[in-house]
Amino acid sequence: PRSPRVFSGIQPSGNLTLGNYLGALRRFVESQERGVESIYCVVDLHAITVWQDPEKLRRTIRELAAAFIASGIDPERSVLFNQSQVSAHAELSWILSCVARLGWMNRMTQFKDKTQGKNAENESLGLYAYPALMAADILAYHTTHVPVGEDQKQHVELTRDIAAKFNHDYGVDFFPMPAPVIEGTATRVMSLRDGTKKMSKSDPSDQSRINLTDDADTIAAKIRKARTDPEPLPETWDELSERPEARNLVNIYAALSGEAREVVMERFAGQAFSVFKPALAEVTVASLAPISSRMRELLADPTEIDRILGRGAERAAEISLPILAKAKEIVGF
Ligand code: ADP
Ligand code: NA
Repeated sequence: PRSPRVFSGIQPSGNLTLGNYLGALRRFVESQERGVESIYCVVDLHAITVWQDPEKLRRTIRELAAAFIASGIDPERSVLFNQSQVSAHAELSWILSCVARLGWMNRMTQFKDKTQGKNAENESLGLYAYPALMAADILAYHTTHVPVGEDQKQHVELTRDIAAKFNHDYGVDFFPMPAPVIEGTATRVMSLRDGTKKMSKSDPSDQSRINLTDDADTIAAKIRKARTDPEPLPETWDELSERPEARNLVNIYAALSGEAREVVMERFAGQAFSVFKPALAEVTVASLAPISSRMRELLADPTEIDRILGRGAERAAEISLPILAKAKEIVGF
């Protein structure tokens, strides 16, 4: 069997959240620490499927790279790079667009979700074709495992369909089938304003999320104002099943402190949120302060970030360009 290779990307859209950290960045670091070959990509080609201010995009690309490194991604051990700097993504995306069927793309629920309430006719062709580019991102590295959120699972399944059709149409056994590694609900961080909604960098309310760059006072204030119910905390995790806001806060505490939820429940059983929230603020600040201060240090030297991304792009190209070349040969170029 082939040795595992992980690929994952995050869009440089600014406002990285505690959700991105616990659900993505921290898991990526764990995969690196297990010694799995890991390739992490700042997916800027995906970002421009909706218009981006160029100056802001340049900044958010560096910010995301800094967040990867500050969270523990070691650009020597993992490959960390910027999608637009490696031509294999766009080139393979075209070939795969010619393999994918319109009917398959029409079934993608994310495009429907993203255009809900809008006139889809006015969206970019790129936003519609996004899953074909994502397939290229994954297949250009002969990736075996793709850590994704539940919302991206359908795109990994489409990637498998595209890989299988390419192999079938050209009579080859070239693209291996990548497996999605789904982020468990345990790692899903919910909005501080609504315990049934995901904490998201695209939520219009800044109060709904904790940003990786928030300072200690901001974090404490957001947690103090987080929506909760009036009941004190019960003794067991199961008793929180109908209390999404309380559940979310306990979940965050457990994830950041590294303790089991039951241990956290025991410690705070019978306590009011006026006791629990300051404790949560404390563990959150303790976890995020080193990350935000490291991000600030890194961002003070953009040339160095660009150098790291440039080096990462060279390494990414070493893996993906031969795979692209072979795909082109198979197609008849
Ligand atoms: P957002 O939804 O904030 O725009 P993205 O869709 O760009 O974030 O997601 C980037 C990565 O972060 C994905 O792997 C996604 O699963 C993860 N992620 C985003 N929000 C959360 C969250 N609230 N909880 C857990 N993981 C999250
Ligand atoms: Na998302």
